[in-house]
Amino acid sequence: MSDITRSSLPEHVAIIMDGNGRWAKQRGLPRIMGHRRGVEAVRTTVRAAGECGLKYLTLFAFSSENWRRPESEVSDLLGLLKAFIRRDLADLHKENVRVRIIGDREGLKEDIRNLLLEAEQMTRDNTALTLIIAFNYGSRDEIARAAASLARDVAEGKLDASSITPDAITARLDTNGIPDPDLIIRTSGEERLSNFLLWQAAYSEFIFIPDYWPDFSRDTFFVAIDQYMARDRRFGGLSGQVALAGV
Ligand code: FPP
Repeated sequence: MSDITRSSLPEHVAIIMDGNGRWAKQRGLPRIMGHRRGVEAVRTTVRAAGECGLKYLTLFAFSSENWRRPESEVSDLLGLLKAFIRRDLADLHKENVRVRIIGDREGLKEDIRNLLLEAEQMTRDNTALTLIIAFNYGSRDEIARAAASLARDVAEGKLDASSITPDAITARLDTNGIPDPDLIIRTSGEERLSNFLLWQAAYSEFIFIPDYWPDFSRDTFFVAIDQYMARDRRFGGLSGQVALAGV
């Protein structure tokens, strides 16, 4: 490992794993091969995150917009996620990794819903890395669901509209209890958020990496963490000030 010091490590890194399709195309392979190699990169990254003592790692596995892809690719992606949970859950549990899923579970088939629930329940008391898998996730959808839940409580008289603060909204998001990402990484050279953690990214640092996701390595991860650690985060204040509590 490079000269990573624990004191200024990010607590939470979130990754937009992009470029599986282009990785495959470059090699004249079907897109599924890119996604398969992408799962290998997921394993490498989870290990590297555990190795450097990261507390939270969020991976954007399937967006609420990904249903628009051809049916065969959607089914490949769902199959890979199911296979990952079936094959890797025991190992993750052994490594003391806690699994959390964010995204809309309504509308998912029962077998996937049960698998996601099983992963969360089996690992709920683990205390090392928390691996958050964003699945059927869209940030605007997440915020709309939070708003609807607050509106329901207001309509039923359980909540006063004046108590809808940023903290109250944060608490209704799928990421409730998870600190905001310090660093968001996107691979493949694209530089956008694509409806990922819009609310939570208010003060995140961004690192865009030209490599396609299947080529993402332990070294790439550590270089990104080193780059993050060289940055000056001000949270709206001045350089050298401590971040405001609650941010
Ligand atoms: C983006 O590449 C990647 C995805 C839409 C899916 C990411 C999924 C995995 C890495 C596998 C399953 C995940 C887990 C956690 C086991 P793209 O297809 O958009 O690539 P392109 O932009 O080059 O076409």
